[in-house]
Amino acid sequence: MDSIIVTGNGPLSGSIPIAGAKNACLTLMPATLLSDEPLTLTNAPRLSDIRTMSELLGSLGAEVSTLQDGQVLALSSHNLTSQRADYDIVRKMRASILVLGPLLARFGNAEVSLPGGCAIGARPVDLHLKALEAMGAELELREGYVHARAPGGLKGGIVDFPLVSVGATENALMAATLAKGMTVLNNAAREPEIVDLARCLRKMGAQIDGEGTGTITIQGVERLNGATHPVVTDRIELGTYMLAPAICGGEVELLGGRIELLAAFCEKLDAAGISVEETPNGLKVARKNGRIRAVDVATEPFPGFPTDLQAQFMALMCTADGTSVLEEKIFENRFMHAPELMRMGAKIDVQGGHATVTGVERLKGAPVMATDLRASVSLILAGLAAEGETIVNRVYHLDRGYERVEEKLGNVGARIERVKGV
Ligand code: EPZ
Repeated sequence: MDSIIVTGNGPLSGSIPIAGAKNACLTLMPATLLSDEPLTLTNAPRLSDIRTMSELLGSLGAEVSTLQDGQVLALSSHNLTSQRADYDIVRKMRASILVLGPLLARFGNAEVSLPGGCAIGARPVDLHLKALEAMGAELELREGYVHARAPGGLKGGIVDFPLVSVGATENALMAATLAKGMTVLNNAAREPEIVDLARCLRKMGAQIDGEGTGTITIQGVERLNGATHPVVTDRIELGTYMLAPAICGGEVELLGGRIELLAAFCEKLDAAGISVEETPNGLKVARKNGRIRAVDVATEPFPGFPTDLQAQFMALMCTADGTSVLEEKIFENRFMHAPELMRMGAKIDVQGGHATVTGVERLKGAPVMATDLRASVSLILAGLAAEGETIVNRVYHLDRGYERVEEKLGNVGARIERVKGV
């Protein structure tokens, strides 16, 4: 297993290109199952999760070819041979459940392994299943698989989500495009990745209104066509790299960044004393003089503060002037980065869904362990400003969601290198 070694050093400067969004691409790719015509995705990120989704779609008989060094994905499910998503692939990536809605909508049957939980929580899929049942699906859970049928096809229905779920909204949205009649999704997720999916489905011929609001209305159609669609910018990669100059000083331009992708996050950066300025090519982030101010944060569904940036923001608060309270309201176990940050000298008290961080002058480098995707990058951010060397182990977590992190940070002056594991 590879490790990444970060040595704390001075201010950063330069620019970092932001890639296409992992969490948009992981729902755009299964959309190919809705049509027998080709779907081409541009601005695709080069990540192991994308390769896993390609492997899963391939196991169903779909064709996925990567062009232009992985930035273009050409997909086709013209010759699908199976509607069964096996556990050995699904267990590697929970987003695999997103093939369920499209398979059911197009073929009237699907067998998809239940994804396990993961480090940050149990991650149930009950809301995905309830949404499909509201569209007439007959579901049976047997031997760890969802056996889904829709004899005569799905029918439009009213889906009232009891809580906001990104994945369940995506599964329901894709399924509804081919259901007979109208479907209304109430309390739908509003994330930019949902808006991006709706825009791509509309290019394929779907009739969708209201994406980005809490109510999405879909009028089912007979069939969908192919399309070409650019994957939206990754707001989580964007926010992550905005924190690099925030943590160790300097000024960095994030190419392709847009404030509207991260308004709530930018408000917290401003409160902490970080300047964020829109430029013709993206966002310029600089740390004003003096110490970072401590800021309280609570994670919320979009447009609130993203849970996927909570670990990274905690790294910033570790050396803030004062005490900040971070409340994690989306997942039940998303503070595993805290004990690792404490190995670096951070003062953090975790009580249930709250972490209280008392800022210290400076962290000290140490060997630390990555536990999940966003926790691993928060340790790298902490290492950028720590005294001495930080060795982040198990960086395969990192490679799921961040392409070439050592190159992107190295290009703006960070002292960071990857050490190949044995
Ligand atoms: C998506 O996961 C993202 N993953 C996550 O990003 C992100 O943290 C999450 O949305 C929240 O924004 C992808 O898009 C591939 P949810 P998802 O359904 O769809 C509960 C990353 O780091 N819930 O919005 O699985 C669930 O347990 C990853 O890139 C149910 O109870 O998240 C959680 O507490 C991590 N039943 C809450 O809802 C369900 O059927 C929100 O989950 C579904 C979810």
